Amino acid sequence: MAESNTDTKSSNQMWGGRFASGPDAIMEEINASIGFDKKLFAQDIRGSIAHATMLAHQGIISAEDKDKIVHGLNTILSEIEGGNFEFSRRLEDIHMNIEARLATLIGPAAGRLHTARSRNDQVALDFRLWVKEELQKTEQMLTGLIAAFLDRAEEHAESVMPGFTHLQTAQPVTFGHHCMAYVEMFGRDRSRVRHAIEHLDESPIGAAALAGTGYPIDRHMTAKALGFREPTRNSIDTVSDRDFAIEFLAIAAITGMHLSRLAEEIVIWSTPQFGFIRLSDAFSTGSSIMPQKKNPDAAELVRAKTGRINGSLIALLTIMKGLPLAYSKDMQEDKEQVFDAAESLELAIAAMTGMVRDMTVNTARMKAAAGSGFSTATDLADWLVREAGLPFRDAHHVTGRAVALAESKGCDLAELPLADLQAIHSAITDKVYDVLTVEASVASRKSFGGTAPSEVCKQIAFWRARN
Ligand code: ARG
Repeated sequence: MAESNTDTKSSNQMWGGRFASGPDAIMEEINASIGFDKKLFAQDIRGSIAHATMLAHQGIISAEDKDKIVHGLNTILSEIEGGNFEFSRRLEDIHMNIEARLATLIGPAAGRLHTARSRNDQVALDFRLWVKEELQKTEQMLTGLIAAFLDRAEEHAESVMPGFTHLQTAQPVTFGHHCMAYVEMFGRDRSRVRHAIEHLDESPIGAAALAGTGYPIDRHMTAKALGFREPTRNSIDTVSDRDFAIEFLAIAAITGMHLSRLAEEIVIWSTPQFGFIRLSDAFSTGSSIMPQKKNPDAAELVRAKTGRINGSLIALLTIMKGLPLAYSKDMQEDKEQVFDAAESLELAIAAMTGMVRDMTVNTARMKAAAGSGFSTATDLADWLVREAGLPFRDAHHVTGRAVALAESKGCDLAELPLADLQAIHSAITDKVYDVLTVEASVASRKSFGGTAPSEVCKQIAFWRARN
């Protein structure tokens, strides 16, 4: 609840000119964003320095005032970084907390900083800068995760495992190939991140409240100083737009969905029943009652974080969906969603990178599982097509009978005696055994993007050159 508001009677020093009294305690509580937007302090100060420098360059404020403002802002930056800044909820948000402190430090010159801008373009700027940096961090983290998968794929380009559809054994694949599937997924995520950086790379500052300004500002100058490609082109859209935040959340949600699928596979693979991998002690936990247990908690939490990220995306889409142009205070609720999702995403990528790098792969278990469940049945059918000239549908039928026979005998396809196979179809020769092993099966799948070790190595080389 709100702390007691003893001197409500004084109106806000930044905008209270027409107000006879200050806000009710509840008004102050619902209105304040300083609790979370203080995260934007560095972006706010950078933006203000660029703005003040431009104002002086254009002759809108004096060089002396600009110097005082820049010096004061740098002092505030070190105060906040050093933990020596007192944030006040009465001053609502990061913008007014910094400006009020500037006034205390440098006096009346501080009042000139807000010339030709509004908090509407100011917050759009600060938040864009923050999201841009977060996207750049995400890009780097995804590169790290892709590198971890490339290393595991290289190491296991020839390790055979069962490939699944419907989580039922389908055809043998290599573990390297499976790892490379994740490289493709996280590679797409990274390219979405790069596109999002391109989309948001326009500077909002100078849009002012919504209509632009009559002062002779230079928006190209501030855009350049702040590292943006160019200024935004419509001042109304500029202060109404949160697409950059929604795009970040959408990318986070898709990446989270990929991380969650990986988490689910890790949970399954690390069960004693599968035994395909063993998580390192660093990325698993024990049970307080069952001494034998090694639990994949980190993977489970990655799976769960995805739910949070999805929630943030839906929350911001819903916040924005009915807003008339231009700015409405609803938009203040954008930040917590993005901050929370960013924290979850960073943690999830970091945890997954660690798990992938550290896990021990049990190639013997994978290989044994790869051969069970008649996983080379398709190879037998393909052999009948290739060597005996059968139409695929007939070959499928013949193979089905061989599978039924092996099942009734309790053996693998490769263990069926030639006489049994020939009784099913007379064209079968002992050459068929060459294709019934899992190694032969994977080696034969040389189609572009297929699971043959030779193909997997080509794909690894492709991605190495791009990572
Ligand atoms: N704290 C506000 C936000 O986060 C800053 C913009 C306030 N603008 C206004 N017109 N009240 O959105």
